[in-house]
Amino acid sequence: MLPLRKNIAEMAGYVPGFQPEEPGWIKLNSNENPYPPSPKVVEAITAEMANGGENLRKYPDAASKEARQVTAELYGFDPSWVIMANGSDELLNNLIRAFAGEGDEIAYVHPSYSYYAALAEIQGAKVRTFGLTKDFQIADFPDRYDGKIFFLTSPNAPLGFSFDNNYIETLAERCVGILVVDEAYVDFTDASAMELVNKYENIVVTRTFSKSYSLAGMRLGLAVARPEVVSALDKIRDHYHLDRLALVAATAALQDQAYLLATVAKIRDTRDWFSAELGKIGYRVNPSQANYIFAESPDSNSKRIYDALFSRKILVRYFSDPLLRHGLRITIGTREEMETTLAAMAEIG
Ligand SMILES: Cc1ncc(COP(=O)(O)O)c(C=O)c1O
Repeated sequence: MLPLRKNIAEMAGYVPGFQPEEPGWIKLNSNENPYPPSPKVVEAITAEMANGGENLRKYPDAASKEARQVTAELYGFDPSWVIMANGSDELLNNLIRAFAGEGDEIAYVHPSYSYYAALAEIQGAKVRTFGLTKDFQIADFPDRYDGKIFFLTSPNAPLGFSFDNNYIETLAERCVGILVVDEAYVDFTDASAMELVNKYENIVVTRTFSKSYSLAGMRLGLAVARPEVVSALDKIRDHYHLDRLALVAATAALQDQAYLLATVAKIRDTRDWFSAELGKIGYRVNPSQANYIFAESPDSNSKRIYDALFSRKILVRYFSDPLLRHGLRITIGTREEMETTLAAMAEIG
């Protein structure tokens, strides 16, 4: 018998969305961006590989100084309040490692991003979930929540609504520990809790480059938090956690806000059009502030729709969870992809 820790031996592990290998799929199951990243990102990566890859011989900047500086300027914080990461998943993991030891409790909203639970299990931390009320507030949240971390996904995945900042403030006041606002999808809406980091010492905001910046393949994320939190996360991370190509990609992507806004605007338009069209064929669609929608078919038999779409090589996300199995999460692709998907859904009936 290998001397595995008991919690590792017993845990199931997180299963990411299916990635089909053969071409020809319309892939709407992982909330990826259908458009390529900014051409400036490609230029920066190409430049970093010039002279036969000479730069790749040397280690990258362990402190991600340039990318932190650009992030700090973009959001109006001192660079000591910013950390870059190898995907926002790295931040979620390291926040748990920093704040929640074995037997400590963390919590999150169910339904939201269940990876928090897998990361907590690795640490041997306990996991608690809070449900949602009909008007999308957190059910039975105590006046004083003394778990080490509360993860709030806003916009919520997979339901697509956002929590407003007044409500986030009340949660920050009730949390004795850290309130992590996971803003993976925030660029697809107009709201953000980032400014609250100045006001509440326990708020940490995490962002990803995987969705709005079209860089899921580069693995990049960032967080804004108090310098004490940032320096704790800096102690924990692998020292060279971001490679040279990721670092130049992050900086170039952040510097091309015009491209980001144009791409996001296209996705928002397609999302609003697709949601309205689905409504016309009898679907119930949650108003979405993200790059996906959660939609319920007229007969609430989402597995049937999932299978019928799958047989047409259209991949969406079905969750067997009792709270979610009435609907499908559908990532917003290009207008053309969504027209094909809509036609297929109308035909499936
Ligand atoms: C809510 C949420 N947080 C975090 C992530 C992880 O993002 P990243 O690709 O930056 O690790 C995802 C990815 O789907 C997500 O949906």
